[in-house]
Amino acid sequence: MRVLSVLNQKGGVGKTTTSSALAHGLALSGNRVLAMDLDPQGHLGASLGADSDRPGMDSVLLEGASPEDLMRPAREGLQLLTSGARLMQVEQQGGGGPERGWRLKAAIDGMSDVADWVVIDCPPSSGLLVMNGLLAADDLLVPVSSDFLALQGLSTLMQTLQRVEQRLGAWSRKWLVLTRFHPRRRLPREVQDKLLEYFPDQLLRTAIRDNVALAEAPGFGQSIFEYQPDSNGAADYAALVEDLKQGRVH
Ligand SMILES: Nc1ncnc2c1ncn2[C@@H]1O[C@H](COP(=O)(O)OP(=O)(O)OP(=O)(O)O)[C@@H](O)[C@H]1O
Ligand SMILES: [Mg+2]
Repeated sequence: MRVLSVLNQKGGVGKTTTSSALAHGLALSGNRVLAMDLDPQGHLGASLGADSDRPGMDSVLLEGASPEDLMRPAREGLQLLTSGARLMQVEQQGGGGPERGWRLKAAIDGMSDVADWVVIDCPPSSGLLVMNGLLAADDLLVPVSSDFLALQGLSTLMQTLQRVEQRLGAWSRKWLVLTRFHPRRRLPREVQDKLLEYFPDQLLRTAIRDNVALAEAPGFGQSIFEYQPDSNGAADYAALVEDLKQGRVH
């Protein structure tokens, strides 16, 4: 079982788009996948056409409910745990020791009979929810959108992730993926060059092009592979699935 958390404290960089496409893409290529919506906004659940308010991650993290009891089949090979209406309470809870950050890992451990991949969509913040996503992960995937401000704070984020892991005795492989890419524009190509310069071993080979079908699909509760299987978005995310499986960088 590989646990992949999709994480970046910056908002709107493509975390949920990437989580939805990877979760369904991995399922379509024959894996048993469990997708977890760790964002109180509930966008991953909604993107896949589910009711995000039904109990899910909130019960797992607040009451220690078992993911297996709450996950629901979303597609062939794909199970989904929605955020639930109370997930925000995790951030607001005081008290509890350092073990609060390990709750998700504890809940997932022992699920290898159920899933080959767990894909976790994290919220755009840096609180306890993201800490749970970080400490549960074997692989961390940081989407970076190809605009001017995207690189701001990225080095700090990567260093912080590593420091937190070192301090808490966790370890993950860390990957970056360029999203909303315009191959013919100068600025996005400069962003790509910079990423290659600073993170040559971590930037996954496929850049996800800006593609309107990716923006439209969630409105229909469909993954990109259902909504427009012949789109650039579907092609790019299918390639990204392979990048991840094989650790394929530039
Ligand atoms: N490659 C793409 N091409 C076109 N639109 C995209 C692409 N990737 C993401 N989008 C759109 O950009 C917006 C932000 O994407 P998304 O919701 O995936 O980001 P996010 O990082 O999950 O946001 P948040 O931080 O709020 O959770 C959405 O409207 C989405 O449809
Ligand atoms: Mg999101």
